[in-house]
Amino acid sequence: MKQTFRNLLVLMVLCATSLGLNAQVNGELWQDTNGKHINAHGGNIIKYKGTFYWYGENRPYRGFTTEAGVGVYSSKDLKAWKDEGIALAVSETAGHDIERGCIMERPKVVYNKKTKKFVMLFHLELKGKGYEAARVAFAESDSPVGPFRYVRSTRLHAGKWPFDMTEEQIAYAKTTKANDWKDWWTPEWRKETEKGMYCWRDFEGGQMSRDMTVYIDDDGKAYHITSSQENLTLLISELTDDFMDYTGKYVMVAPDGQNEAPTIFKNNGTYWMICSGCTGWAPNEARMFHSKSIWGPWTQVESPFKGNNASYKNFPANKTFGAQGTYILDTKALGIKGTESRFIFMADIWNPEHLSNSLHLWLPIKFDKDGTPEIRWCNDFRM
Ligand code: DGJ
Repeated sequence: MKQTFRNLLVLMVLCATSLGLNAQVNGELWQDTNGKHINAHGGNIIKYKGTFYWYGENRPYRGFTTEAGVGVYSSKDLKAWKDEGIALAVSETAGHDIERGCIMERPKVVYNKKTKKFVMLFHLELKGKGYEAARVAFAESDSPVGPFRYVRSTRLHAGKWPFDMTEEQIAYAKTTKANDWKDWWTPEWRKETEKGMYCWRDFEGGQMSRDMTVYIDDDGKAYHITSSQENLTLLISELTDDFMDYTGKYVMVAPDGQNEAPTIFKNNGTYWMICSGCTGWAPNEARMFHSKSIWGPWTQVESPFKGNNASYKNFPANKTFGAQGTYILDTKALGIKGTESRFIFMADIWNPEHLSNSLHLWLPIKFDKDGTPEIRWCNDFRM
């Protein structure tokens, strides 16, 4: 009896001290400390001086343009999130790159130890131009909660070829004519696309940049990974030491693969990239790639989403449980100890009718016996 009582006491203490992550339940609205749904989508999380900061698109209840900017929330435990307001606000000046009514998507904030600045990269579309501009934008701040100062937006690598293309390959790419192709997805079109047809089309003006993430490697080098060339091809580009520009070194990954929403992590020396397909706000089957080097070659393997557990509205594993990835949280890199799972896949379950209410989905990444990532639905898990 005495023993049972002791066991019970030990259990109660353990429950009280373990960091059960989802006080927030997957598939439900996640409340901030004011009781409002966390309106931070397509973003990422960093830790600075013991506090976590969650950045993301602040979306309106109706419509899909950016009316406020990029929002930021803070937390001490990754569960209770305090609304810290708008980190990067839209401009009220007509014609400004980030004029209210532009589209700011997938913001990623990183801290630069050398410059001591918080740097934000995001996908920017100009007001009234749909998704035509396809630019990356840069902003910076001295404080994690902002205000961030908008710096500039640009297309990528004007006048530069991927560093791994040979003279022969470049000569071939220069013979391609993207604007002449009426029918996509034919074997001939695929061949030309894989040879760099769209890279050549946009060579002078710079490569397109839409869905994106930023990855900081163990050696402190930062990389921008983005959907380019009409969302057909991913580009991985090295950033300069201050994270505010490109060194010019970049590669194309999976040309004509149509990958969006890139997320990345590294485990035991292998880089894993998990992306989505391109179906607007609707969920689709995730794709996964691995490589021993950030520069590739990247090998595609099957989607890591597995299992039949009842998920949000019963979206199956081959629809990414109804979600689209935004970031992979490396809890070890953030100094969180004793977690059940080092990596957490963060995703959005988009609600195109009311984008502000799009749901958040956090799932632990586990590994099978061969070390391949696996992601299964669960409502709750211990960190
Ligand atoms: C899918 C992208 O991943 C989102 O960030 C957003 O651009 C939507 N498409 C728009 O339809």
